[in-house]
Amino acid sequence: MCGIIGYTGKKQVKPIIIDALTTLEYRGYDSAGMAVCNAKEKRTDVYKCAGRVRDLSKKCEFKDINSTCGIGHTRWATHGGVCDANAHPHTSGSVTVVHNGIIENYKDLVEEFDLSGSLRSETDTEVAAAILNHYYQKTKDPKKAVKSAVKRLKGTFALVILFADIPDVIYSIRNVSPIVATLSDEGAMLASDLTALCQFTDRYFVVPEYTIVELRKDAVSMWSLEDNEIIPEYLTMNWEKNSAEKNGYPFYMEKEIMEQPKAIRDTVFGRTKGGIPNFKADGVPDELFTQCERICVVACGTAMHAGLVFQALVKNRLHMHIDVELASEFMYSDPVIDDKTLVIAVSQSGETIDTLEALKYARRKGAKSLAIINVRGSSIARESDYVMYTNAGPEIAVASTKAYTTQLTLFYLIVCKMAYLRGVMNDDEVRDCIRSLKRVPEVINNLLDERNAIHVIARGIINAKDLFMIGRGLDYSILMEGSLKLKEVSYIHSEAYASGELKHGPIALITENTPVVALVTQERIMSKELSNIREVKSRGAAIALFIKADLIQQSTREFDTFVLPNLPDELMVFPASVALQLLAYYVSSDKGFDVDKPRNLAKVVTVE
Ligand code: F6R
Repeated sequence: MCGIIGYTGKKQVKPIIIDALTTLEYRGYDSAGMAVCNAKEKRTDVYKCAGRVRDLSKKCEFKDINSTCGIGHTRWATHGGVCDANAHPHTSGSVTVVHNGIIENYKDLVEEFDLSGSLRSETDTEVAAAILNHYYQKTKDPKKAVKSAVKRLKGTFALVILFADIPDVIYSIRNVSPIVATLSDEGAMLASDLTALCQFTDRYFVVPEYTIVELRKDAVSMWSLEDNEIIPEYLTMNWEKNSAEKNGYPFYMEKEIMEQPKAIRDTVFGRTKGGIPNFKADGVPDELFTQCERICVVACGTAMHAGLVFQALVKNRLHMHIDVELASEFMYSDPVIDDKTLVIAVSQSGETIDTLEALKYARRKGAKSLAIINVRGSSIARESDYVMYTNAGPEIAVASTKAYTTQLTLFYLIVCKMAYLRGVMNDDEVRDCIRSLKRVPEVINNLLDERNAIHVIARGIINAKDLFMIGRGLDYSILMEGSLKLKEVSYIHSEAYASGELKHGPIALITENTPVVALVTQERIMSKELSNIREVKSRGAAIALFIKADLIQQSTREFDTFVLPNLPDELMVFPASVALQLLAYYVSSDKGFDVDKPRNLAKVVTVE
């Protein structure tokens, strides 16, 4: 969703803003804009348009922009259509604003402040700019204006503000929507997202909620709404410097699929001792896993699918009660949560508002919480009692790949740890599992070497309108993610079905040549799965079978097959998921789509 950048320092600001907005493109957007300080004339100049960052860049190509302070924005329309006028920044009097989030009471404010005749856009943001300007004209004090204005705003917001008569200074305040900032020798910067800062620095701090931050060329200051000074708490990024670049790959999605062996290795690293999972470095106490009576995972999309795999493992290994809830439904489904519940919130970005709200709700009900997060210092990480970070590095492609497999990695470690602590598995059994987990990167590498065979299968489904993915047990959970991947990047309508369910309805949709992807990795249910596959084959379906090497038999040779390298059944989720990611990737890239930025989707979903 929307992206924000702000810079004030020694360098020319235009290329910094354009570069940062280009980096932020992955979040999903439909318009771009920037505002720069004209210090000499005490003016703020705004350039904006519907379209891509390159359109914005063209628009200001021949403008004589000589400024070292400015703010930029990529907009993902919520209030008002996609047009130049609705793009950010928005100006009202001396105030120019970019904004992420939603001002819920903007209509009331339009009436109360009698703004309807003066607004030039349909956005809630312009209303926020007008309110800020109202208080600024009254007080001529930026801090007082920000303070008074935010007290009137309801909703989520990250506001970044320029005052025309205060050149080269940027103000910001936020509620829920994130802002990270930094100060270096080159100047001060802020952004909605770490990926925009990681080219410049590996040190940053998260701006606390309802805190006024002031960026000057050589200083950053913060105050609470009660005017107490707040000292930034700097964090260190563990992302490598060029890790947010494509490094020769045509798309981030391919790069990120290929990075999975390393990401998984990095996620396991430092989390075992003597072959037993050890979460000391994460600061997660054993009691978190021994004192709970049930587990509840809250997450969205791919992260929720990782939770489904965890659920299967928990039931199988721990025989414990576990629910996996769509975070967006959680609060409205009267969940059974109490102080004996361990709530696990899973999120790549750590900013998904539904997951954040679900976590807050569970905590209010007394649950203990653990967050599995990729972005350090993100909102969900800060809201949770404990955090375990996936070490996937920046994930830029909208379709999640390495975040998912690193979430699975942490889940697998957690299951082993819980089984060990609860006496369900002995030392040797746990060590055996961890040894197998440590083989996963090498096994994925072997699969990646064979990826051309998946490309061939992808060519066979490229023209499909509808496709089914069928499997049972863990295979079904894996396919739910595989199906989501295909949908989002290839725009093929794809449904994952528990294959035993087919005869209860969906098999009516199988006709001559309907493509069906079948997954067989679990020995104990394999014969039933194969019967289900034959049922659809006998109705004309074109089967692409992904099967674990050890499970191949004479009778499976009748299908078009991709052989998945062997691991213990419960770890087959890794090679199987990577194979399905590649399938989706090849279909999308062969269709000529913008794989990394599928239509209508945003990387970070900060609206409910
Ligand atoms: C799909 C995808 C989404 C995210 C979901 C949650 O490829 O990426 O389904 O998994 O929007 O995002 P996070 O993990 O950032 O909470």
